[in-house]
Amino acid sequence: MKIAVIGGDGTGPEVTREALKVLESVSKLENFEYTTTEFPFGGDHYLKTGEILPANAAETLRAFDAIFLGAVGHPDVKPGVLEKGLLLELRFQLDQYINLRPVKLYPGVETPLAGKGPKDIDFVVVRENTEDMYAGVGGFLKKNTPDEVATQTAIYTRKGCERVIRWAFEYTRKRNNPKGKRLTLVAKTNVLTFGHDLVWRTWQDIAKDYPDVEADYNHVDACCMWMVKNPEYYDVIVTTNMFGDIITDLGAMIQGGMGVAAGGNINPDQGGTSMYEPMGGSAPKYTGQNVINPIAAISAMGMLLEHSGQPEAGARVLRAIELVTGTKMKGQAAGKMGYSTTEVGDLVCEALTAV
Ligand code: IPM
Ligand code: MN
Repeated sequence: MKIAVIGGDGTGPEVTREALKVLESVSKLENFEYTTTEFPFGGDHYLKTGEILPANAAETLRAFDAIFLGAVGHPDVKPGVLEKGLLLELRFQLDQYINLRPVKLYPGVETPLAGKGPKDIDFVVVRENTEDMYAGVGGFLKKNTPDEVATQTAIYTRKGCERVIRWAFEYTRKRNNPKGKRLTLVAKTNVLTFGHDLVWRTWQDIAKDYPDVEADYNHVDACCMWMVKNPEYYDVIVTTNMFGDIITDLGAMIQGGMGVAAGGNINPDQGGTSMYEPMGGSAPKYTGQNVINPIAAISAMGMLLEHSGQPEAGARVLRAIELVTGTKMKGQAAGKMGYSTTEVGDLVCEALTAV
């Protein structure tokens, strides 16, 4: 397995180091080989060289089986530059049309939802990752005048809807929830009567091929309500890009925060290259202090393994994380774990031999 590693900015390299440590340990236990190649991209690199990504970056990265991304974001770089120029650029160029975000409360992790535990908070969000308001279509008219007009157009294509919905049905089927296989489409069909009408018609067509999966629907505002009140209701959610961005931050909070939430930007097509990342940012104020939580990054590495041909190793990483959160860590916030960043990494490595 050939893995490209972008440690990135701030605490990104610190959590990446722990994820790589866990990769090394699990590769020995599960007997597989891999290589890692580091790339310097991020805010620091941009400030030093003026380059966000070289012109051939996507082509170079396409030769890898997977990409691991720590975090990008720099206090001296204007908001939007790295987001658009690096993260979204790679998602689009590599056509990573699935953004997979498990919302899973690990044992021992505190959730702000009173009375809810790990058996209640365990669902997965499949977020479309290439269209919608993220497509970058829009413009200004009469910019910087009192009559200024701005547009930001949400793009939905039949093909784009079809591929993410079909993937989500397949994923729900494979996940095979013992409580029943349920896929919930989250959209806003009552207001977005063009774009989400296309989403809805595509959904109905594809649902016919999956009679074993309950095809369920929630408006996005109601979904936010139910995620807080009855998270146990959900099995798999499929949703559009912008709504997916918003509800997965809500999901991250109910699963214990950015210290534990991970995601994958997946191109599931033959030869596709996917990118896995902790959901949190570069947390510059904690840089170099060895206090940031590496669990999200380690969990992202587990996802990378699960989806890149090493599902046993991925499952083992997940069990090791559960052992560490359940029996060792005192909290998930930076500086409140009862252990340092490197110690948490060591604990997961140790736990790998016990699970
Ligand atoms: C995320 C992030 C990105 C997004 C930003 C950094 C562009 O919030 O991965 O959820 O909006 O997709
Ligand atoms: Mn987001």
